[in-house]
Amino acid sequence: TWNQVPLAPPDSIFKLTAAFKADTYPQKINLGVGAYRDNDSKPWILPVVKKATEILLHDPALDHEYLPITGLPDFTSAAAKLILGPDSNALKTNRVTSVQTISGTGANHLGALFLSRFYGWNGEKRIYLSDPTWANHHAIFKNVGIDPVSYPYYDPKTVGLDFNGFISALQSAPTRSVFLLHACAHNPTGVDPTTEQWDKIAEAILEKGHYAFFDCAYQGFASGDLDRDASAVRYFEQKGVPMLICQSFAKNAGLYGERVGALHVIAPAKETSDRVKSQLSVLQRSEISNPPSHGARLVSLILNDAGLFEEWKRDIATMAHRIIAMRKELFTILTEELKTPGNWDHIVNQIGMFSYTGLNTDQSKALVEKAHIYLTNNGRISMAGLNTHNLRYFAESLDKVVRG
Ligand code: LMR
Repeated sequence: TWNQVPLAPPDSIFKLTAAFKADTYPQKINLGVGAYRDNDSKPWILPVVKKATEILLHDPALDHEYLPITGLPDFTSAAAKLILGPDSNALKTNRVTSVQTISGTGANHLGALFLSRFYGWNGEKRIYLSDPTWANHHAIFKNVGIDPVSYPYYDPKTVGLDFNGFISALQSAPTRSVFLLHACAHNPTGVDPTTEQWDKIAEAILEKGHYAFFDCAYQGFASGDLDRDASAVRYFEQKGVPMLICQSFAKNAGLYGERVGALHVIAPAKETSDRVKSQLSVLQRSEISNPPSHGARLVSLILNDAGLFEEWKRDIATMAHRIIAMRKELFTILTEELKTPGNWDHIVNQIGMFSYTGLNTDQSKALVEKAHIYLTNNGRISMAGLNTHNLRYFAESLDKVVRG
C-alpha cells in the first residue's frame, strides 16, 4: 500500500519558513511568507485583537457549541458590509449569500467548488488567473476540476501592469468566462490597476458576460484604508458585474492561525440567493461540517463595536505605514547610497505586503544561499519582513546579487 504514491515537492512558500527557522545564521531574514512582522521581526498581535480576546475570555455566555453550518451570523453579515460597503445595493436587497470559511484559502476552495458544480459552463471548466498569481490558486482550482489558464498581468519591462494584454484577454476569452481578480494589493506583484483601469476592466467583463471571482486577502494593506482598498469590489457591484468575493482576515487582523474568512456570492435576486445559500450549506457540511468559532467571534466583536472598529483601523494603518516606510528607505539606500544598477522605482510604486523585485530565479536563489535571505524564486519579497535593523544588510546583499 502507498508504494505507488509519488513524492510531491514541498510548498514553495512554507518551505522557506521551515528553512529560515532551521538556519542559525544571525543576520538571516525571512521575506518569504506574507505575514506581518514588527520592527523587531516579531509577529504582531494587534492591540485590538488583545482587547477582543480579553472580552471573550470574560464572557460568561460563551460555550463551545457548534456554529451554524454557514458560520457565525454576526460575523458573516459584518464581514459582507466591510467589503461591500454600507450602501451596497446587493446587501440592501438581500442578494448576498455569506458563508464563513477556513480563511481566504477556504473561501477560494468553496467558491471554486460551487462554481465547478453550478456555474453554467459552456464547455470546458476554466478559470483565468493573472500571470503571475499566488501559486495556491492553481492548485485550488485543479482540485475541483477547473483548469487554470493565465491572462497577461505583469509586464517585466515596466515592472508594472500589462494593461493592454489584460484587456485583450478579457475581450478574446469566450463569453461567460470566469476571471480571478485580486481585489487589492496583488499577490505576488504588488501591482494594482488604477481606478480608471478598473473601470475599463469592469466594462470589458460586462461586455462579454464574464464572471468576476474576487480574492480579497489584503484589504487595508494596499492604502492603509479599508474603504479605499474595497473600491474595486464596490465599483463592480454597483455596475452589476456578476461576482463573488473571497475574504480573509489573516493579514489585516493578524489572525493567521485562526483561519477566519468568508465567501460572499452575489445573486441577481433574493430568491436565487436563497437557493445559492442552500447549496453552499450542503457543500460546507460535507467538507468541514461547520466553521471554527474563536477567530470569527474575535472579528465579529471588532466589526460590530464602533470603538473597537476604530481601533482596528488604527492598527491596520500602523502595519501598512510601516511597510510603506520600509519601501521608501529601501529605495533611498539602493538609489542614493549604493547606486545599485537598474531602475528601482517599482519598490515605491508597488503596494501592499509584497514587492516583485524584478530579480530573476538565479539572483533570488543566490540571496537565499549566500546571504540567508529567504524569498520565493520569482523574486517576490514580503516587505513586512524588513525593518530598520535588517534593511541595510538586505539592500547590500541585493546590490551584490544585482552586480553579479
Ligand atoms: C503568501 O502568499 O505568502 C500568503 O498568502 C501565505 C500563503 O498562504 O501562501
